[in-house]
Amino acid sequence: MTRSRGNLRSYAICAPGLERFVASELAALGIATGRIDRGGVTFRATTRQLYAANLWSRVSGRILVRLGAFTARTFASLERQAEELNWPDYVGGADPVGFRVTARKSALYHTGAVAERLAQLLGKQPLRASEAIRNRGLLVVVRIDHDRVTISIDSSGAPLHQRGWRLDGAKAPMRETLAAAILAAAGWDGTRPLVDPFCGSGTLPIEAALLARNLAPGANREFAFTRWPSFEPGTWASVREEARLAARAKAGIPIVAADRDMDALDATITNAARAGVSTDLEVRQSQVSELSPPTGSSPGLFASNPPYGRRLSGGTDLRRLYRAIGRVAHDRFPGWSVGLLVANRALGQATGLNLDVAFRSVNGGVPVWFLQSTDASRVAVPPSR
Ligand SMILES: C[S@@+](CC[C@H](N)C(=O)[O-])C[C@H]1O[C@@H](n2cnc3c(N)ncnc32)[C@H](O)[C@@H]1O
Repeated sequence: MTRSRGNLRSYAICAPGLERFVASELAALGIATGRIDRGGVTFRATTRQLYAANLWSRVSGRILVRLGAFTARTFASLERQAEELNWPDYVGGADPVGFRVTARKSALYHTGAVAERLAQLLGKQPLRASEAIRNRGLLVVVRIDHDRVTISIDSSGAPLHQRGWRLDGAKAPMRETLAAAILAAAGWDGTRPLVDPFCGSGTLPIEAALLARNLAPGANREFAFTRWPSFEPGTWASVREEARLAARAKAGIPIVAADRDMDALDATITNAARAGVSTDLEVRQSQVSELSPPTGSSPGLFASNPPYGRRLSGGTDLRRLYRAIGRVAHDRFPGWSVGLLVANRALGQATGLNLDVAFRSVNGGVPVWFLQSTDASRVAVPPSR
């Protein structure tokens, strides 16, 4: 059971393939990480570190705190052992509580009934996870595997990719957490220029500007842990103040957000303003074929999430577009690193660039690859004209 507040057994959930970036950012916060699973990283944290991990993690989707683990094969055994856990630190009288229960190869396989029993124990109506989060309630995550029951409490609330700056209704945006993983995979630390030729609603350049200015990604949102009975307002105020003091006034390097579509650029401009990084972005309306690096800039990162083709061939138009990407990168961005998030590796090959797979993940349920090259002038095949 997690009684000691100096030693919270925690778990940062992320999209598959992004675990090592989560582990590095936790390490950068001085947090000792443990096991890395597919889709998450275990760590132990003080209360302060748990708050800081929520505020600063750019790649995690949610952070859980483990309440306890035990073996149970019957509802009576589940109830008896669950009752012993330290619920009062986390569940307040008025909070709605939602449950996310998964069961695998276990006698307690009826996940709805497990949620009902636990809710009853807490004197609550069992809500669905999404309903509880929408209503600023608490999320209890129960995993049952070979009769081993692990009960955790969510500390984040709305998923961490929801930074609070994105306008609703953008077309096919990439998750903010995935954009942050792209920057981490490319080793982009905010000291080199960045150009995103297909910026859409601006996710990648905005995440880049937040990183370059050392702005905490969670500074403009709220977290579930602030509603726990055990919440320490003084600790949280101090974590936030430290973040405020750590922020840089400007990015100091060019960050170009380009797209051919004016509606997309309008969304970028609004989102950047909401994120507080308007002055850090150079927003350009441009076809990729017309794009060039910022005047006088040293080489940086040419990175993007171009239109996807999910079919293996990608279609003729898309192949033509990816050839144009390769040509522009090769001809106008020599010495720049290139990074492309694609849903179809054949399209990556169509660029003619010498791209390697940096990670594989999923975006909105679609498998994606992040392909990169450390120098756009290194080509696999000469760019076709
Ligand atoms: C997959 S979306 C990018 C989404 C973006 N990552 C986000 O998070 O919102 C692809 C973008 O490419 C733009 N686009 C398509 N063809 C283009 C071209 N030839 N030149 C420049 N932009 C183009 C579209 O307008 C669209 O905004």
